[in-house]
Amino acid sequence: MRSDPPTSLYVHVPFCVVKCGYCDFNSYTVEDRGVMDVFLDALDRELSQVVLPARPVSVFVGGGTPTYLDEDRFDRLWTILARHVDLRAVDEVSMEANPESVSQAKGERAREAGLTRVSVGAQTFDPGRLAFLDRAHGPERIAEAVGELRAAGIGNLSLDMMFALPGQTAAEWSADLDSVLSLEPDHVSAYALIFEPGTRLTRDQKRGRVSAVDEEVEREMFLETRARMKRAGFEAYEISNFAGRGGPCRHNDHYWLQRDYVGVGPGAASHRAGVRSTNYKPVDAWARAVLDGRPGTATAETLSPRQRFGEALWLGLRRTLGVDLSEIAGRLDWPLPASAAEALERHEAAGLLARRGERVALTEEGVLYADMVGESLLALD
Ligand SMILES: C[S@@+](CC[C@H](N)C(=O)[O-])C[C@H]1O[C@@H](n2cnc3c(N)ncnc32)[C@H](O)[C@@H]1O
Ligand code: SF4
Repeated sequence: MRSDPPTSLYVHVPFCVVKCGYCDFNSYTVEDRGVMDVFLDALDRELSQVVLPARPVSVFVGGGTPTYLDEDRFDRLWTILARHVDLRAVDEVSMEANPESVSQAKGERAREAGLTRVSVGAQTFDPGRLAFLDRAHGPERIAEAVGELRAAGIGNLSLDMMFALPGQTAAEWSADLDSVLSLEPDHVSAYALIFEPGTRLTRDQKRGRVSAVDEEVEREMFLETRARMKRAGFEAYEISNFAGRGGPCRHNDHYWLQRDYVGVGPGAASHRAGVRSTNYKPVDAWARAVLDGRPGTATAETLSPRQRFGEALWLGLRRTLGVDLSEIAGRLDWPLPASAAEALERHEAAGLLARRGERVALTEEGVLYADMVGESLLALD
């Protein structure tokens, strides 16, 4: 009997009520909601074109803002997904939700189809900073949204937060953490704001209108997050992700473990057996290809074993458990590249990595330099 390698499914819903000035994800505002029908038609087609895993390890419906679809279209989205995938047989089916557009009815509709977990994009509880970030919700709406999702029977709720917002103090972020914990989430993600190239935020920074918080302040916020979440009984299973009652996000863990995934929807990426492909980003280009019976794929690249090794280290070191070098070598059928071994030794000597047998993980100090360590391993010659 043939069994698929463990594979997850990602579904990208590319629409948002506003385009937040800091966001470089593939998401769009729409003047004519008819585009959403074209999107749903094309999604249905693409799901019948791609080779789907018999039973995905996890399904993640992200965006964009899946909850921005109005009730009828939201209903159709889940009807389509359930037609192609036996969602109820999947252990984790997650969805991203924005506070302003989620409702108990949408939560119930998706839960009936198999949804088990929701990530609510809260970002901050400070009204002025929510407005600065272009968010369409106020702070009070976050608690309401959480209440509606709980009432809809969603047992596993995550809150997505951002810190190091321009002008934010460590005390303000600490107050945000109080608000997060008061809502008793099952999981929390907390990322420092990144000034992504090409975004309005970065243009404003270049014009001197906004500036990033000091590195020292960002570091203080990061350490405070880890300490506070630990005290509250959450496990930092990854640099920016904290598992409470709901456990780790299996979908993201699957990604950090460099497992295979299939992505559908505009701009979605797939990774299967060392081949990475990406769909057309614009909704119309992707939909035209798919509805014409062609793949929605814009680019495909076969990664060399050496590239895959570097990527496995870069991704895997984000996890608190770190990486198992022999597991990676066995899976990729490729020995640890000498340049990677040298880089690992160098970081170990600097106190950033700790090695126990075949397992290598970031130290408490190393967690602060995770990006630098990861990038040095990604760029192996
Ligand atoms: C792309 S959004 C999609 C889900 C939903 N629309 C939302 O806004 O929460 C997923 C997460 O990415 C994070 N994100 C987006 N842009 C970011 C940036 N420039 N820096 C840090 N995090 C960012 C936000 O925390 C957000 O919750
Ligand atoms: S709502 Fe989410 S996906 Fe949409 S623009 Fe804002 S951060 Fe990006």
